[in-house]
Amino acid sequence: MGKYKRPLARSPSVSAQEHVLRDGRPVPEVFTVESPCFLGNEDIPFFRYTDQKFFDSEMEKMWSRTWQWACREEHIPEVGDYYVYEVGPLSVFIVRNSDSSIRGYVNSCLHRGTKFKAASSEGSCSEIRCPFHGWSWDLSGNLKNVPYDWDAPHVGEHEFKLPEVQVDTWGGFVFVNFDMDAAGLTGYLDPLPVHFENFSLADRFIELHVEKELDCNWKAAVEAFIENYHTQQTHPQLLMGSDDEGTQYDVFTDHVSRFFCAFGVASPSVDPKPTDQELLDMTLVGDRSLLGDDLKVKAGESARMAMARVLRKSLGETYRCDLTKYTDTEMIDVSQYGLFPNMILFPQLSLPMIYRFRPIGLDPSKTLFELIVLRPIPDEGKRPLPARPFRLGPNDSFTQVPGFDENLGVVYDQDTGNLRLQQEGLAAARKEGATLLNYQEVRVRLLHQTLDRYLQDK
Ligand code: FES
Ligand SMILES: [Fe+2]
Repeated sequence: MGKYKRPLARSPSVSAQEHVLRDGRPVPEVFTVESPCFLGNEDIPFFRYTDQKFFDSEMEKMWSRTWQWACREEHIPEVGDYYVYEVGPLSVFIVRNSDSSIRGYVNSCLHRGTKFKAASSEGSCSEIRCPFHGWSWDLSGNLKNVPYDWDAPHVGEHEFKLPEVQVDTWGGFVFVNFDMDAAGLTGYLDPLPVHFENFSLADRFIELHVEKELDCNWKAAVEAFIENYHTQQTHPQLLMGSDDEGTQYDVFTDHVSRFFCAFGVASPSVDPKPTDQELLDMTLVGDRSLLGDDLKVKAGESARMAMARVLRKSLGETYRCDLTKYTDTEMIDVSQYGLFPNMILFPQLSLPMIYRFRPIGLDPSKTLFELIVLRPIPDEGKRPLPARPFRLGPNDSFTQVPGFDENLGVVYDQDTGNLRLQQEGLAAARKEGATLLNYQEVRVRLLHQTLDRYLQDK
């Protein structure tokens, strides 16, 4: 320890970009970009994960003012389809309007405050009717009917229009922002749309949706998934097929960051070095059951080339789509993007997932972790319906989820097992804060620094 005297930009081992360039295959420009950042090295106070007052100020000043993915457009394809998104006490009723635009209304009746629909409800309606006394609004939020209105001469249509939240869409996702004065989604997302130009997330469908309750703060949960540093201790089985130490970490804006990890190569810590065939055999590329038995490295191929070839063919056949436009790195590697505060996106085809993290109610130590798998829709024919969520309690294993690759289930159990221990350890600590690594944990620090910008903004 102590031999490096200054903030180190990266490991001296082979970087993710170097692995990709060594293939000699085409590489999209977004994977040749690097944006390292040193954001300081002060400890992150532990009270930020446990203190009720701190949590309440996050709710008041951050969750109520940031863009969050609420649902997918495929959840509400037809006029009248609705979906309820909630975070803490905030609740929005999202509905497809009669002109096909998407509107979001505060999910609280203007009579005596009842929610129109409960948390996570979805369905279809021709009007927005309160279940209590039946006041109703049309899909554009105009007051339509007040039963026995002879008794409500003071209720005017104009004043009783439903209050709205901001709604916008990108990549098939419906985003909401509870703050009507917040800047628009486009600037908030930058540079995600450019990085995702070739991935067209709108042309994917939800094949699998898992919800897992976690006994930890929402930030601890996000942080466990935005660094690859823990792989050597937590997921040693992954070191044979992915290079943890060469992972590249990028900070693009306050809201957008990335890590870029090469697959089909071993971690430098693996000794002796595996052969290409061993790498291919050991690599976890999504659901191995889709890959067939023909996982053989051909003459002149590397493990990475073989992975891309096999995956392009097998996924193309399974999902009835042409994947030839995707380069090898787009097929097999993991470039994982974070969008503040709570969304993580994996655009590449091998592990095509999206994560979301939200506090459950007003408890700083309870989080709902959602994982969806987004597969390409067929080139021809109907879009498959989105999968319904499968809910796991705090003690349930990801290996119980029907259709979820068992090896991946083990990985997520390893991750979520740590989080309970971490939250308990925060309460037991004598030390006052977390000490982070400069490069590999920069995205953790970014999360806190961006959060502080919202909390300090009056
Ligand atoms: S509370 Fe909604 S109609 Fe009475
Ligand atoms: Fe992990």
